[in-house]
Amino acid sequence: MNKTLRALLILITILSGVALVYHYILPKNSANQKSQLIDNTAWIGPTINTDTSLKGVQLEQVQYGQALIAHTSKYLGPNGAVAKITNGMNCQNCHLNAGSQAWGNNYGAVYATYPKYRDRSGTVESIYKRVADCMQRSLNGKAIDSNSKEFTAIHAYIKWLGKDVKKNEKPIGSGIEKLPLLNRAANPENGRVIYIAKCQLCHGKNGQGQMLANKEEYIYPPLWGEHSYNDGAGIYRISNLAGYLKNNMPYLQTSHEKPILSNEACWDLAAFINSRPRPHMNASKDWPDISKKPMDYPFGPYLDSLSEMQHKFGPFKK
Ligand code: HEC
Ligand code: HEC
Repeated sequence: MNKTLRALLILITILSGVALVYHYILPKNSANQKSQLIDNTAWIGPTINTDTSLKGVQLEQVQYGQALIAHTSKYLGPNGAVAKITNGMNCQNCHLNAGSQAWGNNYGAVYATYPKYRDRSGTVESIYKRVADCMQRSLNGKAIDSNSKEFTAIHAYIKWLGKDVKKNEKPIGSGIEKLPLLNRAANPENGRVIYIAKCQLCHGKNGQGQMLANKEEYIYPPLWGEHSYNDGAGIYRISNLAGYLKNNMPYLQTSHEKPILSNEACWDLAAFINSRPRPHMNASKDWPDISKKPMDYPFGPYLDSLSEMQHKFGPFKK
């Protein structure tokens, strides 16, 4: 009898222990898990090393594609091993972590949303056309051939990156974030002051960046001048540049969750950087339907009567 009572008491102790764990510890844990999920809803690309389904030719293509995005200049830059057709920048300079980083202008949406109609060209664009665009504008160069080993690899890489994204879905944190508009024009002179304080150390007094000693690629890419992106590039619009800066610069010091730059600082920095000299591209065929020109596209003609200056710096409406 005594034994049974003791066994019963032990059982009750164990059970209430289990109940305690359920009531106090597990709920806390699952609350933590939930808040982590809330913070981590932005898309992040898969990693090659941990994807065991990648094999053979596909693995080789994906690896080469990633290398071409991360170290474009080594292959296609002024001293490129494959061809000398771009300005020395890497795709990764603007598409961080080879286009896999949350809020880093990543490629999460590309495979799921292309081919798609784009107002800039007024046509349905393939992935090839979009990549060629960045080569001719952001890398101020020539496009690789659509049937080259290099484009095949970039395509395989972009397809693999987007493998878990549903068709037509644009994951959170892909592309560039749209910042709220200011109620004043962006101010390049304010931007210059912030540039000197927060950016010049890496990107240089004249925005020229810094090459690695072996001249293969930049350690700090140029922001303006003859080796930078041209005025037909998407990032030449200050809304795109401001949105990129907000989540990504100063490099490695900032994040989407804890940005260093205020929205105003981003707009002013973007106005400063995009008012410095850079290569010119003939983009007269862009935006064939002028009613579709973005508010911050700084080349007329326009439907409204605002000047090119106001279309460049604002103040913007809507
Ligand atoms: C100077 C900055 C810069 C560089 C360098 C650059 N890009 Fe881009 N790229 C952009 C911007 C800005 C966009 C437009 C993002 C948006 O509209 O949200 C873009 C868009 C793209 C897109 C479409 C993304 C989407 O979600 O629709 C692809 C694909 C792309 N770039 C590929 C490349 C490749 C490949 C290279 C290298 C050959 C490259 N880019 C180099 C700035 C750059
Ligand atoms: C600690 C060094 C560092 C600082 C400080 C820094 N950057 Fe960068 N920046 C980089 C690096 C490195 C990259 C390229 C990242 C890559 O290739 O992975 C980059 C890329 C960029 C790009 C896109 C590529 C290009 O050349 O156009 C822009 C724009 C940019 N930075 C602007 C800024 C601005 C504005 C600031 C100041 C708010 C700033 N950066 C501060 C290191 C820095």
